[in-house]
Amino acid sequence: MRALTDADVRRVFDRLADRYDSQMLTWERRLLPGSREWAVRQARGHVVEIAVGTGLNLPLYDADTTVVGIELSERMLELARRRVAQAGLGERVELRQGDVQRLDLPDGVADTVVSTFTMCTIPDPLAASREAYRVLKPGGRFVLAEHGPGCGCWSRCRYGSRPTTSPAIRGPTSSRPVSGSSW
Ligand SMILES: C[S@@+](CC[C@H](N)C(=O)[O-])C[C@H]1O[C@@H](n2cnc3c(N)ncnc32)[C@H](O)[C@@H]1O
Repeated sequence: MRALTDADVRRVFDRLADRYDSQMLTWERRLLPGSREWAVRQARGHVVEIAVGTGLNLPLYDADTTVVGIELSERMLELARRRVAQAGLGERVELRQGDVQRLDLPDGVADTVVSTFTMCTIPDPLAASREAYRVLKPGGRFVLAEHGPGCGCWSRCRYGSRPTTSPAIRGPTSSRPVSGSSW
């Protein structure tokens, strides 16, 4: 099967964007309730949120955090921008289009990097994890709420049409709810 590209991801999420919140929230409520809230509660200080999507996490951050959210899909980002404007978060949330496998950020700038439900779609999750560690300050936290590969529409974007049964991502990609720890 051919490798997933950034262009595939962008195309799939541009198309899905308008349905994303309702589909995602329904799925989460059934399978991983509270994971998003848990992840955001671990965040402190200057936060980089990778693959921020439509910004579902943004209203959940503490008022004393600042957040830079990075996202590849223009349509997902547009919806995130709308959410920021509607929630009056513009003072402390900055959204940028970008590739989290090659973050356009200097080393050691973030107190926390947050990733929720991203590793199943990022073409090279290891590169994204390396970048997350690179931009963290010493002692910073990389907080993840992730799940294994599935057979839903955006997993099919990664894995083709056959349901997958073995984990495709290993290593520091699942701090909760699988293990309940963050680092
Ligand atoms: C399942 S959504 C999760 C969105 C959000 N984190 C959330 O919790 O709702 C996965 C997101 O990852 C984004 N994405 C995938 N690969 C990316 C990359 N290389 N750089 C930036 N964003 C990426 C997709 O465009 C999509 O918005």
